[in-house]
Amino acid sequence: MTQDPSMTDLTAILFMLSAGFSLFTFLYSRRRSRSLGDLRGPASSSFWLGNEADIRYQNEVGDCEFMWMREYGSAWRRTGCLGTDRLMLADPKALKHILHSAGYHYSRTIDKAQFLRMATGNGIVVAEGQAHRRQRKVMNPAFSTHQIQSFLPLFHGTASKLVQKWKGVIAADPSGQPLVNVVGWFSRASLDIIGEAGFDFQFGSLDNLQNPLVIRSEKQIIDSTLYPSWYDLIFKETWKYIPGPLLEYVCHIPTREYRGFRSWLDNVRVFSRGLIKQSTDKGDGNDIMSVLLRANGSSNPKNKMTDDEMVDQIATFLSAGQGTTAKSLTWYFYAIAKHPEAQARIREEIALVRARAAGEEFTIAELDSMTYTLATLKESMRLDPIVWNFTRMANRDDILPLAFPITTKSGQQITSIPIKKGTPIDISPAVYNRLPDVWGEDANEWNPERFLDPLRGFKEASSNIGVFGSLMSFSTGTRGCIGWQFAVLEMQIIILALVENFEFSLPPQSEKTKIYRRPSRFMLPVPEGQEETWMGLHIKSLN
Ligand code: HEM
Ligand SMILES: *[C@@H]1O[C@H](CO)[C@@H](O)[C@H](O)[C@H]1NC(C)=O
Ligand SMILES: *[C@@H]1O[C@H](CO)[C@@H](O)[C@H](O)[C@H]1NC(C)=O
Repeated sequence: MTQDPSMTDLTAILFMLSAGFSLFTFLYSRRRSRSLGDLRGPASSSFWLGNEADIRYQNEVGDCEFMWMREYGSAWRRTGCLGTDRLMLADPKALKHILHSAGYHYSRTIDKAQFLRMATGNGIVVAEGQAHRRQRKVMNPAFSTHQIQSFLPLFHGTASKLVQKWKGVIAADPSGQPLVNVVGWFSRASLDIIGEAGFDFQFGSLDNLQNPLVIRSEKQIIDSTLYPSWYDLIFKETWKYIPGPLLEYVCHIPTREYRGFRSWLDNVRVFSRGLIKQSTDKGDGNDIMSVLLRANGSSNPKNKMTDDEMVDQIATFLSAGQGTTAKSLTWYFYAIAKHPEAQARIREEIALVRARAAGEEFTIAELDSMTYTLATLKESMRLDPIVWNFTRMANRDDILPLAFPITTKSGQQITSIPIKKGTPIDISPAVYNRLPDVWGEDANEWNPERFLDPLRGFKEASSNIGVFGSLMSFSTGTRGCIGWQFAVLEMQIIILALVENFEFSLPPQSEKTKIYRRPSRFMLPVPEGQEETWMGLHIKSLN
């Protein structure tokens, strides 16, 4: 990835500064006792980067983690940058403990929290402890089942608009079966939906009226998180030694990456303040922001959100709610293009429900009755979780209980892991979602049926963990995805509309069309040699 020359100089200076600092911290960290000493794990593969390089530079998400899982089970030790010990974790009981029972005794690691602050502002994703509890209290009602269901007409409307657009694309193609980059279309559909449902704003991006202020270029995310330079990894590793107030200034470093984040956030903030003023003046909106503002107005004074927090929730919805949904849909259509038998069965299920449906638009009860379709969505999110990695750090010494015992270096079987305060933990939805202990021996294979017969398909009792199909794809607990019902309903409706109207198939696989599960901030579909997300599928009209 190219950079303009002046930036290269700056990065070099930064690098030298951070290198000196790193050396110090490295020596310092070496002197501390190794807290995970007796756990097994891969040997460090690089002096400076530890196993960080194995994960960050892998071809596809899972290349190295799945190998480690086969060797060590559902918990192991690995080396991070500058020789730090890290715990990699996919054990359901331990995850439940960290994300659920232990409440706020685990927080994000300092570097990841700062990265999120730069990328999404100071909204709920970044808040910790009491501040998070307070914000979540104000926000929960805006994400209630009742509230989400009120967006049904919007989801239907956007889905049928997408159907019309694609019919146009097909009509314009002589083969009648064009190769369509579905990820771009899903991004636009989900942007229109989050705009209107989230804050009563019409982006109109399905109609091409893109709002340059708010659309964050996908390329920016890829640039800054896919295959980062080794000095960037080390620089970020040193953030945990920088005092909090000083660290905030990191976003003012004038490299292209940081400038990009800053200008996006500045623009969204101006836009958000305007929207909030409008919404407050109007007072009766049904969008999430209006509901939030009313909740803030009526809630206990202790549970209020500050104006700045409120403003940054819009950046939060845009970062947490749009690309995530679009990319999950993308992986879903990839899966059903690969599995035409599943696609046909979904179409049959839709036809059955359609035959006795009350109206043009499916109701919640009708959606719920399509159990096979729902099972395919779970199966796709199980195999391809776009949030494939996230981190936590213990805020005090603790003991992690395990559902599945592991064997230590000294040959002991242990059912819990003692954790020292400050130990960074890599949580891996990608690995948990494929644990043979949970999902059975066919954990690596596509088999939606497992969700129709939970007793056969996965061991519910030992691992009833996530909010959706016992998956970790939306995380779980105190700070699990607040928008998961929103996302599932939106995806269900888009899936139904598209599968009812079109047939999807993979193009002949070549260097140019083969998709990789790239380890970016999200798991992104990117072909070899490309720097942008792409998912080309052949689409044929069915009527
Ligand atoms: C398929 C789509 C989605 C997926 C896979 C997804 C996944 C996740 C995951 C894994 C987390 C936890 C991340 C962590 O702890 O680091 C999360 C948090 C969050 N998500 Fe989603 N999400 C999706 C859609 C949405 C939507 C549509 C919205 C909003 C409209 C949303 C809003 C949020 C927020 C605000 C948080 C932070 C919650 C907190 O910290 O309390 N997400 N999401
Ligand atoms: C939320 O309520 C507090 C306290 O009443 C108020 O100061 C603040 O401006 C409100 N936030 C918004 C965005 O209206
Ligand atoms: C997951 O990995 C990506 C790519 O290496 C990285 O940018 C991101 O920060 C990681 N996420 C977390 C929360 O560790």
